[in-house]
Amino acid sequence: MPAPSRPEPVPPDTMRAIVQRRYGPPEVLRLERVPRPVPADDQVLVRVRASAVHAGDWHLMRGDPFISRLIYGGLRTPSISTIGTDFAGEVAAVGASVTGVQVGEAVFGDLSEAGFGAFADYVCAPATALAPMPADSSFAEAAVLPVSALTALQALRDAGRLQAGQRVLIHGASGGVGSYAVQIAKAFGAVVTGVCRAQNQAMVLALGADHVSDLGPADLRRQAQRFDLIVDMAAFLPIRSWLPLLTPAGTYVLVGGDFSRLMRALLLGPLFSRLRRRKVVAVMQQPKRADLLVLKELVEAGQLRPWIDGRYPLDKLPDAVRRLEARQVKGKLAIEI
Ligand SMILES: NC(=O)c1ccc[n+]([C@@H]2O[C@H](COP(=O)([O-])OP(=O)(O)OC[C@H]3O[C@@H](n4cnc5c(N)ncnc54)[C@H](OP(=O)(O)O)[C@@H]3O)[C@@H](O)[C@H]2O)c1
Repeated sequence: MPAPSRPEPVPPDTMRAIVQRRYGPPEVLRLERVPRPVPADDQVLVRVRASAVHAGDWHLMRGDPFISRLIYGGLRTPSISTIGTDFAGEVAAVGASVTGVQVGEAVFGDLSEAGFGAFADYVCAPATALAPMPADSSFAEAAVLPVSALTALQALRDAGRLQAGQRVLIHGASGGVGSYAVQIAKAFGAVVTGVCRAQNQAMVLALGADHVSDLGPADLRRQAQRFDLIVDMAAFLPIRSWLPLLTPAGTYVLVGGDFSRLMRALLLGPLFSRLRRRKVVAVMQQPKRADLLVLKELVEAGQLRPWIDGRYPLDKLPDAVRRLEARQVKGKLAIEI
């Protein structure tokens, strides 16, 4: 009788990671064994327990829009072979010059300006890219926060300068960024209208929106509604179609949707604002530690809670990305590692 086969021995100092050797559909994301990273003096090594997917992941995976290849390098093949930005886990080691971070501490963070690679057993991150996890959050609940919730916070607070009592319209309210934007706007004391497909309206109301609608800008305009702030996560219509919905001092903040429209708003926002007599601003999310701490406070105060629509093990990451691309996700998907 043949001897039962034994599992291959695992080489020391290696780890599992999702690796992508070419641009393409989710099948290009392969689980491989790669060298475990070693922290530099100013870095923290984290044993990742959970990660999350967001729209930026599949843009990098596909190299689409093409400009993302120019921004991150890798015109034909990806220069970033290990994507993934959001993580939560336990500190496994700290570099010699790192202070204020303890081995064993539960942390969460954003690698979007720190080399990516969150779909892996371990990541190395500068101490400035992470913060202590919210108390009582699970790893999955903390991991689905960083990029999406930081974007929502920075769009409302910094780009939109949202004040208590103002009326804000959130377009794409059922998505990753939108589900946080609804809650953060409520925490700031705003009156919130969420716009999303009819099938997702109950979820947006459950997040705390005061009103919800599946109407486009032309129909909303007929209802004589006016807003101090519009935050657009799904800018697939011309910006000018939303502007009549703003009060004279109102602001339109473009977060995502059509990438070329985002780029135009980034470059031409001030000119557009002058021509259209309404302020138009585009947002590029910044992975700031201070803002991770704001998210932690909001979660601990009960004002922000992730809506997790599914959990996937690391090797099923392609399934999670496929579902997100197909517009079948409410809120966030967590990757458990
Ligand atoms: N500027 C930045 O720094 C930054 C940072 C993060 C994300 N983003 C961008 O912001 C956008 C939203 O990100 P996200 O993570 O919230 O994405 P998401 O989770 O996929 O959510 C997008 C939401 O927009 C709505 N939507 C309306 N029309 C859509 C369409 N034609 N296709 C897809 N969704 C549509 C969907 O809600 P319904 O189906 O209910 O309508 C969906 O829930 C993306 O384009 C992303 O790349 C930008």
